Amino acid sequence: MPARNHKQWTSPPSLKAGEWVDSRIYSDPDIFEEEQEKIFKKVWIPVCHESELPEPYDFRTVSIAREPIIVVRGPDNEVRAFLNVCPHRGMMIERRPSGSFAPAQPSGNPKHMTCMFHAWQFDMKGNCAYISREEEGYQDRIKKEDQGLRRLRCEVKFGGFIWVTLNDQVETTVEEWADGAFDCIREAIDTEPLQVFHYHKAIIGCNYKLWHDTNSEFYHDYMHYHNRVTGFNDEYFARKNIAFGNGHVNVNSFEVKYDQYEGFESRAELSFPTFPPNQWYMIDMFPGMNFNLRGSALRCDVMTPLGPDKVMIEFRGLGLKSDSAEDRQHRIEHHNSIWGPFGRNLHEDLIGVAGQGATMQTGSEPRRILHGRHEDNFIHDEVGMRHFYAEWGKWMDRMPSDPMKKYMAAAE
Ligand code: FES
Ligand SMILES: [Fe+2]
Repeated sequence: MPARNHKQWTSPPSLKAGEWVDSRIYSDPDIFEEEQEKIFKKVWIPVCHESELPEPYDFRTVSIAREPIIVVRGPDNEVRAFLNVCPHRGMMIERRPSGSFAPAQPSGNPKHMTCMFHAWQFDMKGNCAYISREEEGYQDRIKKEDQGLRRLRCEVKFGGFIWVTLNDQVETTVEEWADGAFDCIREAIDTEPLQVFHYHKAIIGCNYKLWHDTNSEFYHDYMHYHNRVTGFNDEYFARKNIAFGNGHVNVNSFEVKYDQYEGFESRAELSFPTFPPNQWYMIDMFPGMNFNLRGSALRCDVMTPLGPDKVMIEFRGLGLKSDSAEDRQHRIEHHNSIWGPFGRNLHEDLIGVAGQGATMQTGSEPRRILHGRHEDNFIHDEVGMRHFYAEWGKWMDRMPSDPMKKYMAAAE
């Protein structure tokens, strides 16, 4: 068939509904705003890892759906999450990305969060501990006992990740929300404590779902020279994509032949506990987090959508807390040689999605994005994306292939 004219180019493909999506789901500002309300404010999000707050009074600030959040470790060692918003006049209480409340701050006491604007103070349970000139200004009309922070539901789960939700009425625990998606690596990540050894972030000019798509399909291994030479064998093609409830997917493992790539070595000696040598499992969690256990390192991607065509992706690399200095160094090298900013693999993914982002900006002509490969759930089947968008359609009540219409289930 020759190249197509406009009518041919914009007409629906010969695939069924559910096997493609309309590109407006990646570019429409109204859909983006609706996703914040209907999805991101409702679900569990892994905001960081407990090893990033190792000591009592350590904190980290993050955000979900533009709401600023602070995660702190209390003197009782409990990790708690609060809105990082002062109940007085709404200032962001803590502006540093991370740190400790153990030392005093310029206008406050040690072991307290202090809002620098008018010096109100809060303890690690979110209680308001001090209102400056309280009686003089409020008499008995406002009492500090009633001026606590807004607490958020928070769980430490699956290898020590800190999961937070803005939704007090969330219907599931994190365990129920995952619906078994972590079972394949559960023992490997929960046998002993893990520790973050690598963190970097990227702000990319594409919709957050395009990043999740690329984590959910392996067909694009044609782009990854490293994966082709270490992976394209019978075991690779025998892997299956497995769908779980709530839109999650994982991908079965196989043995990666690292030594087939020049300069690389087997990662067998640094496998996670109970994890067979050189295996690679991948878990994609709705609405956009990814956990990758590959040989000797765990990688986690957390996405914070910033706009319809902009996403912040935080990449963490984790090893065992008990690592010797030498083992840790090897893990870091293994992780970074694939997934560091100058690694063999990660930048290729980023180029791929940035290329999609360039063609799907706000106002770009709607077009069809194909998710229609069927290979009996084997590795290049695009069932991962179809499963994600069936879930997305339910939460949004929009058809992914025609987002101006209400959702109707299509065969995955
Ligand atoms: S806004 Fe925080 S003390 Fe006034
Ligand atoms: Fe990739």
